[in-house]
Amino acid sequence: MTAASAMPRSLTSGRVRLRPIAELDNRAWRRVAEHFRDPEIAFLNGTPPNRMPVWLLRRVLRADARRRDRVTYGIFDEREDYIGTIELYDVRHDRATLGIIIGERSHWSRGYGPEAIEALLDEAFHDLDLQVVQLHTFADNPRAHAAFAKVGFSEVRRATVAGGRVDVLMTMPRHAWLERRGLRVAESVRARPSAAR
Ligand SMILES: CC(C)(COP(=O)(O)OP(=O)(O)OC[C@H]1O[C@@H](n2cnc3c(N)ncnc32)[C@H](O)[C@@H]1OP(=O)(O)O)[C@@H](O)C(=O)NCCC(=O)NCCS
Repeated sequence: MTAASAMPRSLTSGRVRLRPIAELDNRAWRRVAEHFRDPEIAFLNGTPPNRMPVWLLRRVLRADARRRDRVTYGIFDEREDYIGTIELYDVRHDRATLGIIIGERSHWSRGYGPEAIEALLDEAFHDLDLQVVQLHTFADNPRAHAAFAKVGFSEVRRATVAGGRVDVLMTMPRHAWLERRGLRVAESVRARPSAAR
C-alpha cells in the first residue's frame, strides 16, 4: 500500500477546483447524498442507489477518504458550486484507479469532467509518482467513454460482467500523460501573446 497523500490540497484545472472531501460544507454534503441516491447515476456507476442519511454518508465517505490508499476530492465549478466527486482508489505501488461522478446534470457534456480528471492526473503522476492510472466504465455509457478518451485514456479490455453489461477497462500510462502535458505546455506557449516587441 502506498501513502496516497499526506495532506491533500486544493487542485485546479480550467474552471474546476478540487477540494479535499474533508473541506465540504453542509450544503455540499446534501448534494453528495442527492448524487449518490440518484438511480440513473447509480446505474452509470454500477452501484445500487445509496439510501444513507446525509450524516451517515458523510461519516462513511470521510472515513474512506482517510485511507492511505485513497484520495477523494469534491469538484467545484467556476462559481464555487459543488458539482461532483472524484477520487483515486486502490493506490498501490505505482498504480491507482480513478472514479468520477459529476452529479449535477446541468454540468454534463460541458467539459467539467475532463477538467477535473486533468487536475487529478497532475496529482497522480506528479505528486504521487504513479506509473499508470486506470478506470472502469460501462460500454453503455458513451458520454463517460468519450470524456475519458478526450483526456487521453485508451481502452485496453472489454469484459461482460454480471447482469450482461460490458465493463471497459481504460488506462493512462505515465508516458502518455507526459506527452499530452508537453503538448499542452507547447500549445499554451504558442497561444501566449509575445511581450518582446
Ligand atoms: C462521465 C462524466 C464524468 C463525463 O464528464 P462530462 O463533463 O460530462 O464530459 P464531457 O463534457 O467531456 O462530455 C463527454 C462527451 O460525450 C459526448 N456525449 C454526451 N452524450 C453522449 C452520447 N449519448 N453518445 C455519445 N457521446 C455523447 C459529449 O457531447 C461530449 O463530447 P464533445 O466534448 O466532443 O461534445 C460525467 O458526465 C458524469 O459524471 N456523469 C454521471 C456519472 C458517470 O457516468 N460517471 C462515470 C462512471 S464510469
